[in-house]
Amino acid sequence: MKYTLLANGRRLAYQTAGRSRHAIPLVLLHGFCEDQQLWAPLLPHLKSARLLSIDLPGFGGSDLPLAPGMDGYAEAVCAVLNERGIERCVLAGHSMGGYTALAFARHFPERLSGLGLIHSHPFADDPVRKENRRRGIELLQAGKKDAYVAQLFPGLFAPAFAQQHPKIVEAVIARGRRQPAAGIIAALEGMMDRPDGLEILQTLRCPALMVLGEEDSIIPPNEALRTALAADIADLHLLPGVGHMGMYEAGPSLAAILLKFWQFCIR
Ligand code: MLT
Repeated sequence: MKYTLLANGRRLAYQTAGRSRHAIPLVLLHGFCEDQQLWAPLLPHLKSARLLSIDLPGFGGSDLPLAPGMDGYAEAVCAVLNERGIERCVLAGHSMGGYTALAFARHFPERLSGLGLIHSHPFADDPVRKENRRRGIELLQAGKKDAYVAQLFPGLFAPAFAQQHPKIVEAVIARGRRQPAAGIIAALEGMMDRPDGLEILQTLRCPALMVLGEEDSIIPPNEALRTALAADIADLHLLPGVGHMGMYEAGPSLAAILLKFWQFCIR
């Protein structure tokens, strides 16, 4: 694990991997209640790339965020790039990591060679989603983190996969339980406040990747797929029989998609 010290004194954890040391890197951002371990199933398939995976503030080995919301996360990502002397990257985020990647594209478009949304979309929260997040915050504030996390993850996998791989679901829940309640609350607040990001895709100056799961209950694919057409150059993939957790449900396919997109963007 490596660390970047932010200007505010807080630490950000990240990891580097891959054989391609001098290329523009593929930077991976995990989703909500997760950390960079999320990408572990893909790493054996991405050895030929240059990888950097970051624990967003408040998750994994990173300190809690100081600046609020997706913008604060995007600034943290930029701080890691600056410290590593990386001018441009291909940035791919899973779900909330995708919301962060969109915020990064809004603030630092010149730093992007490609933008990947993995089980993610550009829409702001609707009132129902906001209300669910509010209820989540209340549970967390009442000290019920374990119960909150336990109900969060099973529905993120396609039902058949969850039934066949209970140990994977349990491991993801266990990792979720290790995340600090304050980090989870900050993420919920940040997601509730994020603006619509469709115009970011419409004005994007680099290629966009969108990977969706046919059985994703959080990011239903139909509407999300159409938004990818807003980008000038878009690479779209619908993973059959997959829910919200393609890293586990279709690791080799997702890795191959990411690798091809990265190679295309850095050419
Ligand atoms: C995630 O996996 O990051 C979240 O499910 C995203 C969300 O709740 O909108």
